[in-house]
Amino acid sequence: MPTRLTIARNLRSLRTAVAAFRKKRETVALVPTMGALHRGHLTLVKEAQRRADRVVVSIFVNPAQFAPHEDFGSYPRTFDTDVAALTEAKADLVWAPTAQVMYPDGFALKIEPAGAAKAGLEDKFRPHFFGGVATVVAKLFLQVTPDVALFGQKDYQQLRVVTQMASDLDLPLKVVGIPTVRERDGLALSSRNAYLSAEERSRAPMLARVLNACAGRINRREPVEMVLEEGVTELTQAGFAVDYLEARHALTLAPVASLKDGPIRLLVAAKLGKTRLIDNLAV
Ligand code: PAJ
Repeated sequence: MPTRLTIARNLRSLRTAVAAFRKKRETVALVPTMGALHRGHLTLVKEAQRRADRVVVSIFVNPAQFAPHEDFGSYPRTFDTDVAALTEAKADLVWAPTAQVMYPDGFALKIEPAGAAKAGLEDKFRPHFFGGVATVVAKLFLQVTPDVALFGQKDYQQLRVVTQMASDLDLPLKVVGIPTVRERDGLALSSRNAYLSAEERSRAPMLARVLNACAGRINRREPVEMVLEEGVTELTQAGFAVDYLEARHALTLAPVASLKDGPIRLLVAAKLGKTRLIDNLAV
């Protein structure tokens, strides 16, 4: 008999629901999200269902990972639609704590990750970001105690940071990265795509096209530095304000000069109008 989607809003009901799964010896997967769910998130849910008996999806717009000038206030909040989509996707449990539940008065902890979190990519433009992510994800892991947690490669540096954090804390779970889900024109799905005007939306796929072109040229042994410089020029001419376009070691995110330096990941962040987009690709 199909079980219905439970929504837990405090730790007691979360723990009761997870304990019921555990009593039946069921394995548990966690998909952490900030809501505004799209096909990318739902692909994580589907993958989670392949890897565990029960799927918990957390929905929490985490204030700790937004700087004061960023879009915490305007971040899309579509809870009812999200719950409908998760019901349709047959997720088992939604963990939707309030900010008071996650960060009660007197809350005084911050996990400050180094390593990939200090690679000079997102961290350079959002210095507060990975501290906020690592802290909330560590809490989510300890609250839900999943066997496996799924993250998108779309946020590649985040995936590396969270993987390392779980390992550094000896957390008994497996962090799995899932390939980026894209629109037909190549644009990576993102809740922030909703901010794009129609005109910006038509130019946005350029980001993925440039990544593809750069990866192809690097594979043909063209010099990495030159390829990336030309990529930045192309994006700038198309109206993007480029924060970075870089080639990094796929695991450590350390800078690489050529294919000899290890598996390469290209990572890009650029603004189109007021909207900041990120993307990445394996070479
Ligand atoms: P959010 O942006 O909602 O993303 C939730 C998860 O969905 C992340 O693991 C993200 O990488 C993944 N995702 C987003 N777009 C995707 C796409 N196009 N293809 C595949 N996966 C995609 O990332 C966060 O929330 C937060 O930082 C969080 C980890 C929940 C901590 O607050």
